[in-house]
Amino acid sequence: MSLMDKMVVWSLPFVPKPIVGFFSRNYIAGSTLDDAIRVVRDLNKLGIMATLDLLGEEVSELEEAEKAAAFYRTILERIDTEKLDANVSVKPTQMGLKVDPEACYRNIKSIIEQAKGFNNFVRIDMEDHTVTTDTIEMFLRLKKEFEGHVGTVLQSYLRRTSADVRRMVEHKANIRLCKGIYNEPRAVAYKQMPIINENFKYGLEKLLEGGCYVGIATHDEILVWHGIKTVEELGLKKDQYEFQMLLGVDEKLRDIIVKAGHRLRVYVPFGKDWYPYSTRRLKENPKMAGYVFKAIFGIEKH
Ligand code: FDA
Repeated sequence: MSLMDKMVVWSLPFVPKPIVGFFSRNYIAGSTLDDAIRVVRDLNKLGIMATLDLLGEEVSELEEAEKAAAFYRTILERIDTEKLDANVSVKPTQMGLKVDPEACYRNIKSIIEQAKGFNNFVRIDMEDHTVTTDTIEMFLRLKKEFEGHVGTVLQSYLRRTSADVRRMVEHKANIRLCKGIYNEPRAVAYKQMPIINENFKYGLEKLLEGGCYVGIATHDEILVWHGIKTVEELGLKKDQYEFQMLLGVDEKLRDIIVKAGHRLRVYVPFGKDWYPYSTRRLKENPKMAGYVFKAIFGIEKH
């Protein structure tokens, strides 16, 4: 990251919310379920699947978590009524993990029960390293009861991930593999991108060889290429893996993957709690965040 990019990332917390909102609108489907459904319908028309994410993270009251779980059940109902090709992604801390782990388990279970009723699927997103173990244990507990209807995520920046990959292979789990987005300490996470990328490739090969269904979640074209190479070498069928990308990121690459005949799913976040998600996306893309910075400080665009 250049010095300018670092400055941009550092200054983001001081940027007024409406400006962050303006520049992150491409990454978010809107604030209502109707907005999200419209976006999913358009993606489906292009032959692209979706996963719906109700924005919101760490809750401090169980009531909030229960409300969010109820809303997820409504989302699943709506996906079914509208006959959309979409599933949902949920965050454990939004479901109350840090307030009461058992209540969180019950909340997520209620969503998966609903998904099972509609023959659909719930992905448990992975948050920062303080909840990795709890998330994996909860996933494995739910998987026993809801085989085929639940999956989780592994992050290639974590030092523990190769061990987690082995465990997921033992369970033939459905895994989304991504690099990881949280700002983790060096003690638990690799900080050098070449290592994170090699660990992504290593994990992907082991998961696919081990018979896991993998959501290959990246916009990094080298890793996409590596994914295609690996599935070809293993002779996998199109329904044994999928690529995944975030809404609003590198649509050209997205179209190339779809045209090549691979299944692709777009992560569609929506809802009123858009701010933490937006700042994470803008930090990932300092070029975009640079426009925010320039708008704030009145620097002209080139
Ligand atoms: P990398 O960051 O190297 O980017 C590759 C290319 O894509 C670069 O050219 C870059 O400019 C471009 N790019 C990346 N992000 C961009 C952006 N926001 N705007 C514009 N261009 C961008 N993380 C996590 O910790 N837990 C999770 O559960 C998930 N879930 C998840 C689901 C899905 C479907 C995806 C695609 C990603 C996640 N992530 C995640 C986020 C993931 O960990 C990672 O931070 C981002 O995908 C960026 O990493 P890339 O692999 O794309 O590589």
